[in-house]
Amino acid sequence: MRKKIVVGNWKMNKTFAEGLQLVEELLASQHDAAITKIIAPPFIHLSAITERVKSENGFEVAAQNCHQASKGAFTGEVSAEMIVSTGVKNVIIGHSERRIYLGEDSTMLAQKVNLALANNLTPIFCLGESLEDRNTNLHLEKVKQQLKEGLFHLSSTDFSKLIIAYEPVWAIGTGFTATTHQAQGMHNFIRAEINKKYGKQISESTAILYGGSCNAENAKDLFSCIDVDGGLVGGASLKANDFITIVNSFS
Ligand code: 13P
Repeated sequence: MRKKIVVGNWKMNKTFAEGLQLVEELLASQHDAAITKIIAPPFIHLSAITERVKSENGFEVAAQNCHQASKGAFTGEVSAEMIVSTGVKNVIIGHSERRIYLGEDSTMLAQKVNLALANNLTPIFCLGESLEDRNTNLHLEKVKQQLKEGLFHLSSTDFSKLIIAYEPVWAIGTGFTATTHQAQGMHNFIRAEINKKYGKQISESTAILYGGSCNAENAKDLFSCIDVDGGLVGGASLKANDFITIVNSFS
C-alpha cells in the first residue's frame, strides 16, 4: 500500500511565534494518525519546529529547498547536511517558484536530489507544466522531460526513496485547481513513465502528490483519484483547520 501524505508548504509565511502557534494547533487537532503529515516551514524555524514535532502522531518536517553544493562559499544558502543535522527528514526540491524566480534548472535540481539522498533526506520533487504548455497540449511532454532530467539518472534503490509532487504552475496560488480528470490523467501518466523506467513494483509504490489550489473543499475529490496519494498544499496549510480538514479528506 502506498503511503498517504499531506505536505504543508508555508512558503515565505509566518513569523517564528506564528509558526510555533500553528504547530501547536496542528498537534492538538483531531487528525488521522495513519496519514503522514509533513510541515515545511521557512529554514529559520526548522530546528525549533522539528524539536517540537518529534514525529508525534505521524507529523514530520521538511525544508523548502537545499543548495546543490555540499558546502562552501555560498552566502545565504543552506546545505542538505545542515538540514539533516537539525533532525529534519524531508526536503522540497524543484518547486516551480524556485524554477521560475530563481532560475533553478534540471542540472541543478538533479544535483540537489543527489545530495539530499546522500544525506538521507527524502526529496519531495516537484514538477508541472505552465499554462502555455497545457494550452498547446505540451503538458505531458514537459512533465516527462522534468522527470527524465531531474530523476531518471537515479538507481532503483534511490528512486524508491522519493516523493513526487505534480504541481501545474497555472493552479498554484490562483484558485484554479486541476479537475480530477486532469489530476488523475497526469498522475497516471507519471506512474506509467516510472513503470517504463523502473518497473511495476517501484511505480506502484511511489507516492505522487497533487499541488495547486488544493483546499478544504476540493481535497476529498482530488484524493479520491486512484493515482493521487495526497497533496502538497500552500495557502490552505497556513490555517490549522483547513490543513487538518485536508489531512482528513482521504476516504
Ligand atoms: P497553493 O496551495 O497556495 O496553490 O500552493 C501550492 C504549492 O505551491 C505548494 O507547494
